Amino acid sequence: MSINTVMVIGAGQMGGGIAQVMAAAGRKTYLNDVNMDIVKSRLAFIEKLLDKDVSKGKITEEQKAQTLANLIPSTDQHDAADCDLVVEAIVENMDIKSKVFKNLDEICKPSCILASNTSSLPITEIAAVTRRPEKVIGMHFMNPVPVMKLVEIIRGLATSDETYAAIKAESEALNKTPVEVRDVPGFISNRVLQVMINEAIYSLYEGVASVEDIDTVMKLGMNHPMGPLQLADFIGLDTVLAIMETLYTGYADCKYRPCPLLRQYVKAGWLGKKTGRGFYTYN
Ligand code: CAA
Ligand code: NAD
Repeated sequence: MSINTVMVIGAGQMGGGIAQVMAAAGRKTYLNDVNMDIVKSRLAFIEKLLDKDVSKGKITEEQKAQTLANLIPSTDQHDAADCDLVVEAIVENMDIKSKVFKNLDEICKPSCILASNTSSLPITEIAAVTRRPEKVIGMHFMNPVPVMKLVEIIRGLATSDETYAAIKAESEALNKTPVEVRDVPGFISNRVLQVMINEAIYSLYEGVASVEDIDTVMKLGMNHPMGPLQLADFIGLDTVLAIMETLYTGYADCKYRPCPLLRQYVKAGWLGKKTGRGFYTYN
């Protein structure tokens, strides 16, 4: 099956990146969010990234113009009626995601694939709210999407071979490397990564070292491009906590217990880079 028209739901940092790479690959791409201000501000951010790519000689002015022309702002999920693929990238919450998938199932044509960019939630459960579980799949991009090469592909219990093959081909068409992972809480990426981040937060909570020193150990000692606390800020502490909760309840294992300091930061609204304050402060 060919994928020509897509909708990305959620114009946050992930949805914006996914829409950008889809549009750059020639897909007519609706970028949808709850209000036009959010969508417009994400499109302005994408334009700035493309300007930078032009000035570095990575793309031409024509390619930039074509990518922007392929991006269509949307606040109405009915725009997905003619889409071949919808990628959901909204808040990491099963109830909210389920409502969106139920609605999309009513709106989209029968052949349309419904993908979730969820970091950790069961694809099988999301698929079960639709009448097309064979067409529901996890398409998990990494942040920042235009830079990171991986897409984790997660098949729900009922996902068909045809849907899997289409999403694998689409990931490759976006110049990404797909890896198939079973439908378990946190998949591979976040089962491994978030435990490290949570442990770094516990180390801070217990006063083992400062924020900067914890990050320096991992950057200089393990050659990570950014330390775990900076990475948590960059992902969003609300998302980190939601993923830890999924791991904790999903495996019913205390090794995934979210650090109380992480809960406190989220309660305070210190969500990291996106709110200007997390373990670090941002302009
Ligand atoms: N969007 C698009 N491009 C971006 C970007 C963004 N938000 N941020 C940085 N870039 C680009 C820059 O333009 C630059 O491009 P060029 O090479 O063409 O110049 C390149 O990335 C490198 O950027 P910088 O030189 O400014 O900074 P850096 O060398 O520190 O790299 C980084 C930035 C790529 C983000 C790097 O720090 C990194 O790899 N960090 C770790 C990223 C990571 O672990 N991501 C996974 C998060 S977990 C996840 O995504 C899964 C989940 O479910 C939570
Ligand atoms: P974000 O907070 O930056 O953006 C979420 C966006 O979704 C917001 O703009 C919000 O207004 C919008 N939204 C919420 N409900 C909506 C609805 N019903 N309809 C339309 N839009 C709605 O979050 P993010 O970091 O982009 O994460 C989005 C998803 O991607 C989550 O499931 C997250 O777990 C996953 N993810 C995040 C990362 C990361 O590093 N942040 C990486 C991979 C996957």
